[in-house]
Amino acid sequence: MSSDRISLTRPDDWHLHLRDHATLATTVPHTARCFRRAIVMPNLKPPVTTVTAAGEYRDRILAAIPPGGSFEPLMTLYLTDNLAPVEIDRAAATSWLAAVKYYPAGATTNSESGVTAIEKTWPVLERMQELDLPLLMHGEVNHRDVDIFDREAVFIDQVLQPLIRRFPGLRMVLEHITTREAAEFVAQADARIGATITAHHLLYHRGHMLAGGIRPHLYCLPILKRDVHREALRAAATSGNPRFFLGTDSAPHPVGEKESACGCAGVYTAPAALELYAEVFEEEQALDRLEAFAAFHGPDFYGLERNISRLELVRNDWTIPGRYHFGAAEVIPVRAGETVRWKLAGGA
Ligand code: DOR
Ligand code: ZN
Repeated sequence: MSSDRISLTRPDDWHLHLRDHATLATTVPHTARCFRRAIVMPNLKPPVTTVTAAGEYRDRILAAIPPGGSFEPLMTLYLTDNLAPVEIDRAAATSWLAAVKYYPAGATTNSESGVTAIEKTWPVLERMQELDLPLLMHGEVNHRDVDIFDREAVFIDQVLQPLIRRFPGLRMVLEHITTREAAEFVAQADARIGATITAHHLLYHRGHMLAGGIRPHLYCLPILKRDVHREALRAAATSGNPRFFLGTDSAPHPVGEKESACGCAGVYTAPAALELYAEVFEEEQALDRLEAFAAFHGPDFYGLERNISRLELVRNDWTIPGRYHFGAAEVIPVRAGETVRWKLAGGA
């Protein structure tokens, strides 16, 4: 591959927030321009807790795909204390229903209906293990006495490790990992444990968000950490280890809900996601490993076919727009008004 063009199998996004209704007109085209499939998070208001609701949501997403697009949303169910094991049977029998998402209650955006104590979900996890439906985890504890920068590492010790022992056949993804501890843990865990890594956690550390002024558009959960953690994530993403794969956690909010006295967590990376990952892989001199991270490791973990179609990135500076329409409001993307080095060939 020449140093000015990258050709790769069309990638997938294994962790994505599309939101709903009018905002799908913005979010779906941004993701569908380069990703063939995406795992769609269920933290709507109200959350997606049934296969029926997931099917209706899927229909709204499909209706927002630009003409000629071939985007495939893979839906998820939101785990609550009350989810019934029979819903898992329905989920496992539905080809486009890919996984169940665990949010600790109150840990992040729209997680109020999440799990209050993991033991309450054991019958559901039992059934998921039997039917081989993966569990996707927001891997943070949110006890008031655990510092926000420690919540992921404490989750691994207190929740994930016991869960792995209790459910030896359950496939799990530790979503949007942000720490060296998480990267090390996943690398040594057995093959049924995977992890997604976002572009923003590879690009930014907490200094970018807090030094010289507070930048609400970089506020996300799990929160950006020290630079040593970003370095460890870069090493994991570019290592070639199939346990790590691309998941943007692109999470748009209306500008007024970010630029606020109590701003929402979430970074909107979809308009330039693949290009931003390419920047990171280039900086790490690992462009030859981008394709596997972005297009092979995810489907292999989920037991799905790899995509066949391809796309190209070209070295070509472009400026990310300052804002986009977002329903009746607007959304500010990551790196708004700034330059990105790589561009999707043939893209707008
Ligand atoms: O930053 C985040 N935004 N982290 C999450 O876990 C949720 C997401 C959202 O839905 O906005
Ligand atoms: Zn997320």
